[in-house]
Amino acid sequence: MSYSQLLWEASDGVAVITVNRPDKLNALNQETMAELADAAARAGADESIRAVIVTGAGPKAFVAGADIGELARQDPIGGQRTSRRGQAVLDTLENLPKPVIAAINGFALGGGLELALACHLRVAAENALLGLPEVSLGIIPGYGGTQRLARLIGPGRAAEMILTARRVEAREAEQIGLVNRVVPAGGALEAARGLAGEILRHGPLAVRFALEAMRHGLEMPLAQGLAFEADRFGLIAASLDMREGMAAFLEKRRASFQGR
Ligand code: COA
Repeated sequence: MSYSQLLWEASDGVAVITVNRPDKLNALNQETMAELADAAARAGADESIRAVIVTGAGPKAFVAGADIGELARQDPIGGQRTSRRGQAVLDTLENLPKPVIAAINGFALGGGLELALACHLRVAAENALLGLPEVSLGIIPGYGGTQRLARLIGPGRAAEMILTARRVEAREAEQIGLVNRVVPAGGALEAARGLAGEILRHGPLAVRFALEAMRHGLEMPLAQGLAFEADRFGLIAASLDMREGMAAFLEKRRASFQGR
């Protein structure tokens, strides 16, 4: 599939998916969502890709939300379908067995923040503004915002952001755990690449199993999550990566992992 709303670039094991509608502040219309679904599946299927970065074109916005022009025309059946489709796209990203990092270079509002919330890690430029302004438009977040925000920053803070529609600046977002790092304006993509590089140094299977255990654990009672963790801990003992990681430590050298 060739993309008209996205840019796709892959090098050194890292795919960069850029939402590319800068004149509309990268608002997510249905075509963009369909392309994002394709790009997420592509990133998952290609074994040479070990990390994914999602960002927005231009200096002003990551993504300024779902396309309000489209939302304005929605009826109840269409609205529910749009929400479920969008949720499925973001689920695909979140379920990738490789790290997904949002490089937030400006406005991350509504569907844009929801897209960032579906990523495993978030890096924000210091000029970023993050928020869920849906109630100010008379609607509610529909791409997972009412669910993922509370899981990330806690129900009290999430309730404040969602009910007041207040935009949070990057520094505050870092303080409340909404983003992992704040970097100078213009530096989000480079910082996300740096973060990806820090992860890619480590055992690929270990990174994948750790992601799976964290992801599933959030949806399970603690006892089941612990059992899931123990199963993955056992499984990784069958890997060449574990043998290499341990041997490298004992031999005081850097590990060379194969992902097997
Ligand atoms: N959907 C559709 N178009 C959008 C959009 C969205 N979510 N956000 C921005 N745009 C469009 C604007 O309509 C404008 O298009 P135009 O030039 O054809 O008129 C263009 O992007 C630039 O936006 P503009 O509003 O002129 O920029 P600004 O710097 O004055 O304001 C924002 C930036 C982000 C504060 C403002 O665009 C905004 O509030 N956007 C909507 C945010 C939102 O509520 N998102 C949640 C949707 S559920």
